[in-house]
Amino acid sequence: MLIDGHGRKVNYLRISLTERCNFRCQYCMPEKPFSWVPKENLLSFEELFKFVKAAIDMGIEKIRLTGGEPTLRKDLDKFIKMIYDYKPDIDLAMTTNGYLLADIAQDLKNAGLKRINISLDSLRPERARIIAGKDVLERVLAGIEAARQAGLKVKINMVPLKGLNDDEIVDILEFGKERGMQVRFIEYMENVHAYSALKGMHGKEILERIKEKYEIQKIGRQGSSPAFLYRLKNEEYVFGLIDPHKHDFCESCNRIRLTAEGYLIPCLYFDEAMSIKDAVQAGDIDKAVDILKTVLANKPKENRWSEEKNEASSRAFYETGG
Ligand code: 5AD
Ligand code: SF4
Repeated sequence: MLIDGHGRKVNYLRISLTERCNFRCQYCMPEKPFSWVPKENLLSFEELFKFVKAAIDMGIEKIRLTGGEPTLRKDLDKFIKMIYDYKPDIDLAMTTNGYLLADIAQDLKNAGLKRINISLDSLRPERARIIAGKDVLERVLAGIEAARQAGLKVKINMVPLKGLNDDEIVDILEFGKERGMQVRFIEYMENVHAYSALKGMHGKEILERIKEKYEIQKIGRQGSSPAFLYRLKNEEYVFGLIDPHKHDFCESCNRIRLTAEGYLIPCLYFDEAMSIKDAVQAGDIDKAVDILKTVLANKPKENRWSEEKNEASSRAFYETGG
C-alpha cells in the first residue's frame, strides 16, 4: 500500500499523456505555448507501462489518463489495453475534450477503458468557439454520443465563467440529466497561463443558478473525490460541484500525478516535482519506485488556493491534466 507523509492512502494515479492540445481553452491554454516539449522527451507507452505495473503492484487501483489532450497520442488504445490486461479490474478512466472521440470511442472501450469525462462548456456553437479557441461543438457532441453508444460511463465537465457561459449552467445540467450523465461544475482555478480577464464563479453562485429552477439536496462527497454531490429533489439526477478553493477534500486526497515527461507531481497546485524518467529509461524500476515513495513522503497537506486570496498557481493544467 502507498501511504503519504500525512498518513493518506494513495491509490489513484493520474497520467498526463501529453501537454499538447488541439484546443486553446481560455482557462487553460489560450495561447500555444512558446514551445512544446519535444516528442522524444516524452516517455513512450512501453516506458510508462513499466512504471504503471510497479505502481499497480504497490496499490494503485485507479488510473486516469489526461493531458493536454490524451487522444492526441497515437496508439492510445494499445496503452489502455496494456493496463487493462495487467489488471482488468482497475478503475480506468480518461479526461478528454471529446474532439477526436467519435472515431475512437469504441476502440477505447474495447481496449478496457471504463469511464470518460468530457469537457462541455457551452451548447452554443459560437460560444464554444470563443471558449475553446476553435469551432468545436459539433464534434464534441458527436464524441459524447459515441462514448455513450460505446458503453463508456460518461461525465461532463463544465467550468462556469462570468459573462461567457454562466447563463448555461442549467442548460448543461439538463443536457446531462436527459442523457443520464453526471455533470460536474468545476470552479475556475486561477493560473498564470489562463486568459487574465477571466472571472470564475463561486460554487455558491453556481448553485444559486440551479436553485432558480430546481430544488436541490446535498448528498456529500464520495470516497476521495473532490466533487461534492447534489441531487435534484424529486428526481434521481445527481450532479457534482468541484470547489478547489476549499481544502476539505485535501484531507482525503488519494492521488498522485505523472506527466508525459516523467515528472511525479504530488499536488496539482505546487511546482514541486521529481522525475522518474532516467530511472525508467535505464530500466531501474526499483529506483523509480523509490522516487515515488519520496514524492509521497513530501506530498503537501493541502493546496494553496483560498477563498480570500486566490493566489494563482504557476503550474499549467495542460501539463498536469487538471
Ligand atoms: N480551472 C478549472 N478547471 C480547469 N480545467 C482545465 N483548466 C482549468 C482551470 N483553470 C478542467 C476543465 C477540463 C478539464 C480537463 O480540466 O474542466 O474539463
Ligand atoms: Fe486542452 Fe483541456 Fe486545456 Fe482545453 S482544458 S486547452 S481541452 S487541455
